[in-house]
Amino acid sequence: MGSVHRRFSGPLHFFEDLKRTCGDAARFTLFNERFILFSDPALVNEVLVTKQHSFRKGKALEGARQFLGNSLLVSEGEEHTRQRRLIQPAFHRGRIAGYARVMAEKTLQWTDARRAGEEIDLAVGMNRLTLAVVGETLFGSEVEAEAQEIAESLTVIIENFNRMLLPFWKWIQRIPTERNRRLREAQQRLDATIYRLISQRRGDGRDHGDLLSMLLAAEDAENPQKRLTDAEVRDQAMTLFIAGHETTANALAWTWHLLSRHEECRVKMKAEIDAVLGADRLPGLDDTARLPYTTAVLSESMRLFPPVWVVGRRALEDITIGGYEVPRRTIVITSQYIIHRDERFWPNPEEFRPERWLDEAAQAARPKFAYFPFGGGGRICIGDAFAWTEGVILLAVMARRWRFEAVPGQTVSLNPTVTLRPKHGLRMIVRDG
Ligand code: HEM
Repeated sequence: MGSVHRRFSGPLHFFEDLKRTCGDAARFTLFNERFILFSDPALVNEVLVTKQHSFRKGKALEGARQFLGNSLLVSEGEEHTRQRRLIQPAFHRGRIAGYARVMAEKTLQWTDARRAGEEIDLAVGMNRLTLAVVGETLFGSEVEAEAQEIAESLTVIIENFNRMLLPFWKWIQRIPTERNRRLREAQQRLDATIYRLISQRRGDGRDHGDLLSMLLAAEDAENPQKRLTDAEVRDQAMTLFIAGHETTANALAWTWHLLSRHEECRVKMKAEIDAVLGADRLPGLDDTARLPYTTAVLSESMRLFPPVWVVGRRALEDITIGGYEVPRRTIVITSQYIIHRDERFWPNPEEFRPERWLDEAAQAARPKFAYFPFGGGGRICIGDAFAWTEGVILLAVMARRWRFEAVPGQTVSLNPTVTLRPKHGLRMIVRDG
């Protein structure tokens, strides 16, 4: 997108240059570590799928482990497989149908609270909305009273999350600064709330249809006596909270950014939504399959602005990937951002064109891993179906009521941290849709 400034987007530029000058397997050394950037989908397939057991996620998430415990996002090997088996049922289709109701209702509340002509930061707005969605799908509606408290504590934690990934975080967090004190307090408050909820739920033993109920009931088929402990439930819940909202919020914020520049696509999407839902019916899970153009808009947005723009692994042993030697301990990088904009797989890659997703022949011809916003293999995003449902439902409910017009003169820049965010937010004026 020529109009989005990539001036400040250091690592994106760096990877683009590497690929341009060194091709599909680009080696470099940084801080005494050996890296290799793979930019061919076939190589990504080997790293994430066929040879995944020769890799680990590595130490990048060490700081996060301190806060998230040894949960799904950070565990490795057999322990990861066990947790995945336990948590997967919470994301089965039957469950997602229930979450879809929450998604639509929360979005309706959000759209009802907007006024024509008001100026909002849509990036902030989408974060609040997806946080409310994951909060209620995790803990159910009876925590409405605590919702504000949970959201506030989480906001402090999320603001600090990138710092937790710093190499010296263990020491940094002990420095007696105001910021560290606020973070510690937020963590303690959040823990107290979550443990109280867990103990109430253990007491009443009912299935509330939310993720927390699933986690508490999760049983390991291979070891039926073994349930998750309170601490494990806390760690998993916190992980889903963190992993489950900012990504989707970014996807939606970028989608509205793109739609604000492509009015013809918005009009087409709105026509589809109106035809399927009529004037006031709220969408459910089954409706998402009837909204192919809306889905194409979201797919195309996550192609250009993949919310997770890079996935890294460390080699556990000397290994060969597509004929390239990868010595033990090398950090292998695959980047959605780079591959999603590769013109070998995407004609006119910088162009926002949802229609390319409706061309079945082009879809079939494209290699697996030319598009991988949710990763792949054994560590593919557990929330992918949740996120697709959420993305389409939120777009449908919002688009039916409003459109968003970019405040003129602002610079939209990419901020590639753990996720790909708009650096200075997205200032928009709310207009009748
Ligand atoms: C548009 C939204 C989302 C995107 C783009 C996204 C992307 C990803 C990616 C790329 C990974 C794999 C990382 C790796 O292999 O190193 C991942 C893992 C994960 N995601 Fe998502 N995600 C999204 C939404 C969600 C949601 C809604 C949830 C939960 C409610 C979630 C929970 C997780 C968890 C727990 C993992 C770790 C899975 C494992 O290692 O087994 N994500 N996500």
